Amino acid sequence: MKWLEGFQKLSSVLFILTFQGANCQLAVFPIGPALVNALAGSNVTLAVSFRGAPDPVLTWFKGNLPVGTWTLNSSSPPDIADGSRDVLRIENNGSLTFKGVPKHFSGNYTVELTKSGLGQALVTFTLKIFESIQNVTLSTQPDFAQEGAERFTLQYTMLQGVVEQEIWYFNGGKLKNSTRYLIKGRSLVILEPTRTDKGSYSVLLMNPFSSVTTHRNVTVLYGPDEPIVEALPAQPFYKVGDSLVFSCQAEGFPKPTAEWVFMGQILSDFHQGVLNLTNVQTSQGGVYTCSVLNGLTEEKREKNVTLNVYGM
Ligand SMILES: *[C@@H]1O[C@H](CO)[C@@H](O)[C@H](O)[C@H]1NC(C)=O
Ligand SMILES: *[C@@H]1O[C@H](CO)[C@@H](O)[C@H](O)[C@H]1NC(C)=O
Ligand SMILES: *[C@@H]1O[C@H](CO)[C@@H](O)[C@H](O)[C@H]1NC(C)=O
Ligand SMILES: *[C@@H]1O[C@H](CO)[C@@H](O)[C@H](O)[C@H]1NC(C)=O
Ligand SMILES: *[C@@H]1O[C@H](CO)[C@@H](O)[C@H](O)[C@H]1NC(C)=O
Ligand SMILES: *[C@@H]1O[C@H](CO)[C@@H](O)[C@H](O)[C@H]1NC(C)=O
Ligand SMILES: *[C@@H]1O[C@H](CO)[C@@H](O)[C@H](O)[C@H]1NC(C)=O
Ligand SMILES: *[C@@H]1O[C@H](CO)[C@@H](O)[C@H](O)[C@H]1NC(C)=O
Ligand SMILES: *[C@@H]1O[C@H](CO)[C@@H](O)[C@H](O)[C@H]1NC(C)=O
Repeated sequence: MKWLEGFQKLSSVLFILTFQGANCQLAVFPIGPALVNALAGSNVTLAVSFRGAPDPVLTWFKGNLPVGTWTLNSSSPPDIADGSRDVLRIENNGSLTFKGVPKHFSGNYTVELTKSGLGQALVTFTLKIFESIQNVTLSTQPDFAQEGAERFTLQYTMLQGVVEQEIWYFNGGKLKNSTRYLIKGRSLVILEPTRTDKGSYSVLLMNPFSSVTTHRNVTVLYGPDEPIVEALPAQPFYKVGDSLVFSCQAEGFPKPTAEWVFMGQILSDFHQGVLNLTNVQTSQGGVYTCSVLNGLTEEKREKNVTLNVYGM
């Protein structure tokens, strides 16, 4: 009896097929994913399969614009829009092929099938054309970051490429939008930079076909901070003939230079902010001014110290 059961199964399958055939609606499906990434210059096919009626009229649209139309199996060739003939081809099976696809062919492509009396069917693909990312450079605006400035901007430029994702890093840590950083367009803006922003910045640029990391070291100009002035030995006053040194230091980048001024005269006997006073006389008593200067930013600060010298 086995063969009979088999025959019954087969006949029910046949019945379903026939039934569907009689009522068939046009239907079209993408073969593979509806999001297609392609490298510029390559050949790419938006492949479809359809069923429901023989020889429907098929039209491919880019967005709302028709780019090609064909009656399947007809003897006349597909009609392709002006300006796209070098690139587009409608295959015998209705799929759309791009030959050496240029970047500007990125877009949403819809294929619409129509057959009178059987309605229409459509399916949409998103085609993204990428170029491999090449020759990325990171530039800064202005040249140096400066503490106290409103902002400092790092920006990337590249010879070619379509970027799908970008990630900025500082000393290896990922950066996000915050009160300190603004990531926008092709740039990273550091808001109100401080000396702690000194370090290595990089940007990772990615698309499905390439990824490139580019680094840039950033130095932050700052200071001079408030100078620290010390006398050695530290005493409230000195006797004629005593010796002492005044030292003057201030933080900053680049390292600030210090200069001592007494009674309007720049003193010469100092080295790296250390002023050497030997065998002091009462005439040397008075206000000494240490002036510190950031040679690059020309920021300046000064601090006064009073030397009291008494005769014996
Ligand atoms: C694209 O297809 C054309 C033929 O249609 C062929 O000559 C060419 O080598 C192909 N290009 C690539 C990148 O595969
Ligand atoms: C095109 O015609 C052939 C027979 O010549 C047929 O087998 C095929 O199904 C037809 N294709 C379509 C898409 O109607
Ligand atoms: C349609 O034809 C093209 C080119 O001949 C082929 O690459 C593709 O695989 C075909 N697609 C289907 C669904 O048969
Ligand atoms: C393509 O379609 C998607 C989703 O439908 C939409 O978000 C996107 O903006 C469209 N792209 C273009 C270029 O029209
Ligand atoms: C781009 O980079 C390649 C190597 O990575 C180099 O040979 C080429 O000269 C660069 N082009 C430009 C315009 O900088
Ligand atoms: C950061 O914020 C700006 C403005 O608020 C926005 O345009 C940008 O897309 C955001 N960037 C990220 C990576 O979220
Ligand atoms: C950044 O500085 C580090 C060490 O301080 C050095 O190894 C690296 O080559 C520098 N990178 C660039 C892009 O100048
Ligand atoms: C200060 O000057 C004296 C004599 O000129 C010298 O012996 C001493 O080393 C100097 N000290 C410093 C800190 O320059
Ligand atoms: C230091 O002293 C000079 C002269 O005595 C004076 O002109 C100046 O304002 C003083 N500077 C500070 C920071 O006190």
